[in-house]
Amino acid sequence: MVTGGASGIGRAIAQRFGSLGETVVVADLERTGRDGEATDELISRGGGRAEFVRADVASPAEVQELIDGVRERFGRLDVMVNNAGIAGRHNKQLIETTDEDWDAIMAVNLRGVFLCCRASVRAMLGQDPIDDVRGHVINISSQHGMVGPPASPAYAASKGGVVNLTRQLAVDYASRGIMVNAVAPGKILTGSVEQQDPEALAYSHARTPFARLGRPDDVAGAVVFLASPDARFVSGTNLLVDGGWMAY
Ligand SMILES: NC(=O)c1ccc[n+]([C@@H]2O[C@H](COP(=O)([O-])OP(=O)(O)OC[C@H]3O[C@@H](n4cnc5c(N)ncnc54)[C@H](O)[C@@H]3O)[C@@H](O)[C@H]2O)c1
Repeated sequence: MVTGGASGIGRAIAQRFGSLGETVVVADLERTGRDGEATDELISRGGGRAEFVRADVASPAEVQELIDGVRERFGRLDVMVNNAGIAGRHNKQLIETTDEDWDAIMAVNLRGVFLCCRASVRAMLGQDPIDDVRGHVINISSQHGMVGPPASPAYAASKGGVVNLTRQLAVDYASRGIMVNAVAPGKILTGSVEQQDPEALAYSHARTPFARLGRPDDVAGAVVFLASPDARFVSGTNLLVDGGWMAY
């Protein structure tokens, strides 16, 4: 299951799992991304198995329905990727951040991750372990959950919350075979590059030692690793995929 899987990083993660022969459920507000394509159809066209479920991760009822539906149709939920997130127009300096801006970011980025973790961990606790692991939860955090990025207090606080929620759940559920990890992307080019603020892009290039900025598929590789048997003893980590951004 990949939330926010209709576009960007979530689409790349869903496609990567699809290409590995896994059954993928794409959950998002809309079925199609900015390019008008539906991730589930892209996966099906490539010979994989995928379906779309409309769900708002900020709604407890919709999240519960989403997880219940997956268990009913497929019998178990092996990997929950909590990727849906927003910033955009709500991302402002502290003084300009309205109550609505703060609540809008928190509702999706932190409450949404909490709701999806709660519902998916509950479901995973009821299924038999495979090779000692009942299930993997992988939260998409951000390098901005570990430092104070310029002018993004709500986003930074939401992602910092995701990083520590990840650690907490890893501690509480590893004994029952549920592995909880995060992946922290650095600057990944998603959406329309023309829409990106040139100043912000220049800042990202200056902060990224690697010769280019990230691609969604760079993040997908790390997520697939954390969901693989090779990572069966890994829990509570926040794996940076940032081209070296956080190394200095
Ligand atoms: N792109 C980057 O540089 C970058 C860097 C660090 C972290 N991240 C994180 O990676 C994740 C994906 O980012 P992206 O750049 O691919 O963004 P994106 O905007 O391309 O995709 C986000 C997806 O989430 C969906 N979504 C938003 N609100 C939702 C809700 N309430 N319920 C269900 N789905 C919802 C959107 O419809 C969209 O399809 C986010 O959590 C983001 O904070 C991105």
